[in-house]
Amino acid sequence: FDYYIGIDIGGTRTRVGRFSRSFKLEEKEVIETFRYKDNPKLLLEEIAKKILSLKKPNSKFAIGISAPGPCDTKLGIVKDPPNLPGWGEVRVSEFFKNKFDTYVRLENDANAAAFAEYKIGSGKGYKNLVYFTLSTGIGGGIIINGRIYRGFMDSAGEFGHQIVLPNGPKCRCGSRGCLEAVSSGYAISRDATSKALVRKSGILYEIYKKNGTISAKDVFYASSQGDDTSWKILNRAIMYLGIGISNIITILSPECVVLGGGLSNQEYIIEEIRNFAKEHVKMAPINKIKLVKSFFGDDSSLYGSVLDLDIVDSF
Ligand code: BGC
Ligand code: NA
Ligand code: ZN
Repeated sequence: FDYYIGIDIGGTRTRVGRFSRSFKLEEKEVIETFRYKDNPKLLLEEIAKKILSLKKPNSKFAIGISAPGPCDTKLGIVKDPPNLPGWGEVRVSEFFKNKFDTYVRLENDANAAAFAEYKIGSGKGYKNLVYFTLSTGIGGGIIINGRIYRGFMDSAGEFGHQIVLPNGPKCRCGSRGCLEAVSSGYAISRDATSKALVRKSGILYEIYKKNGTISAKDVFYASSQGDDTSWKILNRAIMYLGIGISNIITILSPECVVLGGGLSNQEYIIEEIRNFAKEHVKMAPINKIKLVKSFFGDDSSLYGSVLDLDIVDSF
């Protein structure tokens, strides 16, 4: 292949990028996923349009896709992910194969991100690594001896769906009290909205009146402006993240933990998680384990989607 096209389908945004053979991101397009909410086919068509605009004449490219789980990486099927409500089963690889007649591969977004961070990112060289996406959904990726660990039926590493709060809020996966249901961007925005609608005053309510929604980003903003409700919502979410991440560290004792996704942009969240883990993890060598922010920010999964595309079946 002369170059690669990477696609990262996300709960909020979808990214399409063109990468050089040495994995330099040369150009990127962003699509708001929510505009195509219940219509994956339309989103795929939109992605295909972006590929046409990124594509170079007379050269061969392979396509790597990353998407929320569960997915069947062998058949290239996204299987009704909680983070893309209403999708059902979608044969994404087949769609792009038919459109562009080339090699296409699908990977879970957090697995892909973990691989990117291990290969060329913040966790470079750490062959035993875990990655967390702290975004609209919460995802996880496990690298063992330099390879993605997928588990039975590609279902390993779903860190966002570990139970941290029995009988807690309903998760979009169908369970209750998942980490994703209490600490994700989705959960923060849900809690902020319900608090605002009960109180009908304060900065969150003002934001709601203006935008019709409250995003996790808005809650960070409100908290920085001294809003107590926002501060409490965030504190609770961060505490459960501390629990979820500490448990994974205790189970796997990785050399390195990489935190990515929108929430990891807040430096103090990483600091709080580090402190929580230092206080609670006793069996794994917590003081020797690196806990770092992702190198590629919001693009980790996009990078991961194309890395190793030239080595067919290397995953
Ligand atoms: C899915 C994960 C995914 C994460 C972020 C979660 O709901 O279960 O597979 O990595 O969202 O997209
Ligand atoms: Na995963
Ligand atoms: Zn869940």
